[in-house]
Amino acid sequence: MKTKYALLVLPLAAAAFFLMGRMSAENHAQLNPKTAENLSNAMHGEAFAYVKYMLYADHARESGNEQLAELFTANANTERFEHFAEEAELAGLVGSDADNLRDAIKGETWEFEHMYADYAAQAREAGDTAVAARFEEIRQDEGRHRDAFQGALDKLQQKPASEGAN
Ligand SMILES: [Fe+2]
Ligand SMILES: [Fe+2]
Repeated sequence: MKTKYALLVLPLAAAAFFLMGRMSAENHAQLNPKTAENLSNAMHGEAFAYVKYMLYADHARESGNEQLAELFTANANTERFEHFAEEAELAGLVGSDADNLRDAIKGETWEFEHMYADYAAQAREAGDTAVAARFEEIRQDEGRHRDAFQGALDKLQQKPASEGAN
């Protein structure tokens, strides 16, 4: 029984090892769609935890609990610099500068044209006027972010080919 199990597990382990070795930013498109979705969800969670813990650390520091502030900061750094970074590597999140700018422009455009516009309207409709005003103000910031990224992309693409457009 044990031998049978080993015969089954060893080739699987070898295959997994082979696939892990091949997995990189360049071939992330080959990831199983569910795995890619889970990586994306996990990264959103890690990013949120990082920022949240940093805010908790600020609060602990302001209330005089430096030791708790350090605990939140240390764990926040693990979420960002280890968990998020490792998952981002496997997901192939970071591409060339031009690719990264195009991705950023897409996100900021979505936030400016749709997401914050809808959120502001819904908050206004619900009577949450302070939130509606904040969403609208943030929406304007996202529009400026989009324009800044677009400017940077235009500049990058104007460079002579020898300097590369990466
Ligand atoms: Fe984590
Ligand atoms: Fe933004």
